Amino acid sequence: MSAPLDFRLTLYPDPLLRKVSSPVVAFDADLVATVRAMFELMYRSRGVGLAAPQAGLDLRILVANPAGEPEKSYEELVLINATILDRSGPVTLYEEGCLSFPQIYAEVKRPERCKVAYQDLSGQRIEREFEGFASRVVQHEYDHLEGVLLVDRMSPADKLRHKLALAELVETYKRNRAGART
Ligand code: CO
Repeated sequence: MSAPLDFRLTLYPDPLLRKVSSPVVAFDADLVATVRAMFELMYRSRGVGLAAPQAGLDLRILVANPAGEPEKSYEELVLINATILDRSGPVTLYEEGCLSFPQIYAEVKRPERCKVAYQDLSGQRIEREFEGFASRVVQHEYDHLEGVLLVDRMSPADKLRHKLALAELVETYKRNRAGART
């Protein structure tokens, strides 16, 4: 038996976060294990959503649990190869965080509802409309699959406010890379 998957968070500005993620083609036991390990990383990091690039994977997978608690597993969402078909409703402003930007929070404008086409773990095609907080989480995680990040959605004022914290993330990334080479 192979060792259980143990993913680590990919942090800004890792270039993997800027890639447009590749479609999932195999709906097999490996995919189920990958999704489970993504949930584990998400819960361990106290997040409500996670996209595959944040776990170091170039795949169009997003997982979420708007309730944020592993005990409420009935709230878990698994969207494979998601496409947002439509966004509607009033645009709302809400403070978002992102596991790839530790300690950074910024208000982001998004439409209230989104209609998404995706596949489930068995490969079955599903269309579903999300609203409220679930819709916001899905739209945030979907951005990751397109290489779009919290920093791109921030107001200029928030970007300025977080200038130092963002610069520190860049420095840490460079330092870790330099360390990895030696
Ligand atoms: Co994020």
